[in-house]
Amino acid sequence: MNTNLTGEHSSYSRAGRHGYRPDLANADFQEPDQLPFVPPLPARRGGHWADRAGDAEADAGRFRAYFNTSVDCLFHVNVTRAGNFVYEMINPVGLAHAGTTLERVRGRTPVQVLGAEIGGVITEGLRQVRDTCRPYAYEPTFQFGSDTIVYEALYMPLLDSGGAVVGILGRATDITQRRRLEGSLRQAQKMEALGQLAGGVAHDFNNILAAMSSCLALLGRRALATEDLALLVEAQRTLERGAALTSRLLGFSRQQPLERSPVDFNRSLAEMAMLLGRTLGRNVRIAAHCAPELWPALADRNQVELAIMNLAINARDAMPEGGELTLTTRNATIASRQDSGLEVGDYVAIAMRNTGTGMSAEVLARALEPFFTTKPPSQGTGLGLSMVQGVVRQLGGGLDIVSQPGEGTCVTLYLPRAPQEATVGG
Ligand SMILES: Nc1ncnc2c1ncn2[C@@H]1O[C@H](COP(=O)(O)OP(=O)(O)OP(=O)(O)O)[C@@H](O)[C@H]1O
Ligand SMILES: [Mg+2]
Repeated sequence: MNTNLTGEHSSYSRAGRHGYRPDLANADFQEPDQLPFVPPLPARRGGHWADRAGDAEADAGRFRAYFNTSVDCLFHVNVTRAGNFVYEMINPVGLAHAGTTLERVRGRTPVQVLGAEIGGVITEGLRQVRDTCRPYAYEPTFQFGSDTIVYEALYMPLLDSGGAVVGILGRATDITQRRRLEGSLRQAQKMEALGQLAGGVAHDFNNILAAMSSCLALLGRRALATEDLALLVEAQRTLERGAALTSRLLGFSRQQPLERSPVDFNRSLAEMAMLLGRTLGRNVRIAAHCAPELWPALADRNQVELAIMNLAINARDAMPEGGELTLTTRNATIASRQDSGLEVGDYVAIAMRNTGTGMSAEVLARALEPFFTTKPPSQGTGLGLSMVQGVVRQLGGGLDIVSQPGEGTCVTLYLPRAPQEATVGG
């Protein structure tokens, strides 16, 4: 049985560039001699095109056009008498993904074409089809140079009249982008659920703390022995720490009641300079670059300053030997929707760059997760960044982190620009 899809092999000279990254825009399968051959349809008679259905030449043309223009990788392998798999045909997109040409592929096995690792995975899928005579679907992940690509692959058996598998048709769709978006959606849903849980607990806990605090205040009005008074002060201090923690939880869960008024962050940063200096210690130099005509931001000044302090403490912790923290303000216009979730519009950006240890890709990927910390239990709750993100998002802004191990970290807060008619407060 002839299992050839197109009945013609020789029209592909080059396809795909010889790098690894599938670069479909540059895949030159549109050269004139490679344009899909689609035979003209017959004149319409009686309103039907179907007259030529079954016409071998027209069918072949249609299949060839589909094969050549598909955005999925399509291929056909022959199963040899010995049960091995050799490529017969790969479409231009498939060749572009593999970074090779049809001449180098035809008659060779997946391992010969794509190497032991990728070729081995493909061969395993083909074996399933050969041994079961049934279609086989799976989602292999392949590493092409520095690119990781996830495919949704389906292999279909071509049977001879005796029912033996003599060939296999394969289709592989690049679903890397879809998987990435699904991952972010899952992460966002997890955060939302955690936020609601944390917010609910923090809210109730806050009420308990408030009740305890008023009891302590009442006790404090009574004449107490000096040692009892010391205990009372200690209890009050502990309560304050608890209140600060619940406030962070509420910030993370975006349930913190927020003020919104126009804020000049150049002024706010200038006023924070002394506090920042004291927090960071003498080992850390602070530099500031403030945009001269900075727009006012519509924000909760206290909460954003708290967020900035949090980021400054993270920066200090990342520079145990000392270093530099650079604060930069600028006007930022976002023209297209960002991965970070920032909507199109005008923002005031506050960037905090430190020269510290930086983060590995694994730490960076999890840094915003609530309770994720690389610090010892007594030093970190892992709520700092998630609270900062919660607050800026609640204000309609966003947060962006750029970090490399050994290269330091830059965290940028984006806060929405205040409407122009508003007058600026502190
Ligand atoms: N500027 C930074 N440089 C390097 N790593 C950082 C920086 N900021 C955050 N990280 C990493 O991200 C983790 C999470 O930060 P986050 O502020 O949420 O929690 P934390 O600082 O560990 O604890 P907490 O802020 O609750 O005291 C940190 O433990 C650290 O590993
Ligand atoms: Mg922190």
